[in-house]
Amino acid sequence: MRRVKLRFSRGLVVEFMDRGRAIEQVREVAERGTYPVYVIYGPEGCGKTALLKQAKEVLEEHGYSVIYANPLAEDRDEALIYTPTLRDAVKEALKLFPDLYSRIVDVAINVAGMVMRRLRRPRVAVLMDDIFQAVGLDNAEKYVKMLLNLIEYPPGEYEKIVVLVASSEGVTRERVGRHNWAAFRLLWNMGREGFRELYNVITGPKPEFEDIWSLTGGNPRYLGRLYGANWNPDLILNEVIKGKKLRRLVALLNSREAEILRDVVNNPDMLFERLKEPEAQSLERKLIELNLIIEVWDRDMQSWIDEPPPERDPELGIGRYYAWQTPIHREAIKKAIETVV
Ligand SMILES: Nc1ncnc2c1ncn2[C@@H]1O[C@H](COP(=O)(O)OP(=O)(O)OP(=O)(O)O)[C@@H](O)[C@H]1O
Ligand SMILES: [Mg+2]
Repeated sequence: MRRVKLRFSRGLVVEFMDRGRAIEQVREVAERGTYPVYVIYGPEGCGKTALLKQAKEVLEEHGYSVIYANPLAEDRDEALIYTPTLRDAVKEALKLFPDLYSRIVDVAINVAGMVMRRLRRPRVAVLMDDIFQAVGLDNAEKYVKMLLNLIEYPPGEYEKIVVLVASSEGVTRERVGRHNWAAFRLLWNMGREGFRELYNVITGPKPEFEDIWSLTGGNPRYLGRLYGANWNPDLILNEVIKGKKLRRLVALLNSREAEILRDVVNNPDMLFERLKEPEAQSLERKLIELNLIIEVWDRDMQSWIDEPPPERDPELGIGRYYAWQTPIHREAIKKAIETVV
């Protein structure tokens, strides 16, 4: 299997690393197809986009025509990536939707339909990256339904179809999860050994691996950001505090919510223990909406792409029911609390 090349921090290009179980799962999906739509959800920067790009490679090796759409791609060349045999269909779909970037999701769905009408029983894969922000959270359900229709009421015959959607938006789980149109799968940050491999690619003076692991919890994006910030964690914490307006969040909490938040900093499962209290419920909503914590349910292997996080890891802020997306998210909140109070 070819491993895709990925842009990392400071112009570094790295190969897709590790994630052995995830790749095996993509292979299984390639054999079976997906039903219903699969929505992959996980911490920001944990590697969802990287996984979809690698999945494109694996699916093509299994004879799939793949269309990948990422309306939020920084580089416009990466907004729509497809198997070369789809070129004509993409050209035609682009004529139907001239405003490519606002309609990129429609273009991709259209291309999948054309392929089914034109090829004889094709294998088709539609990979949708971060589409919910682009179509608007209010439309998230509608689009998942459109994708499910592609599976259930295809415009032409297909041999197999794979539909994967990636999202880091906490609220999508509520919005989309209340229907049975999608199966949710969680992807966590990288495991220690895979993450070490990525850490080893970075040359030059750098902090000890254990320190970076404790700070990032294996999140590759934050590893890159720390490297980009010359390993100064305060710079990153301040960016997170500003970016997510955490001081505002803390300042607007009522006293009970603030009290619960302090407990949750020490142990995310305190949220679960207090969930009968309305203040814990409102706090939970805020922390999920701001992509600070994730409900991690159980560790049933079926619910996870790649390896699930450990049952509990207090140092990394991982509890049985809830987990901080990374220790950096937790530290940012901690710092926001200290500076507001
Ligand atoms: N398995 C991997 N091997 C090597 N690098 C990786 C891997 N996974 C992720 N990365 C790198 O880590 C960074 C963040 O990954 P990526 O963009 O895939 O995260 P994401 O989950 O899609 O983030 P977001 O939630 O913002 O969409 C990227 O620079 C990516 O290249
Ligand atoms: Mg992404």
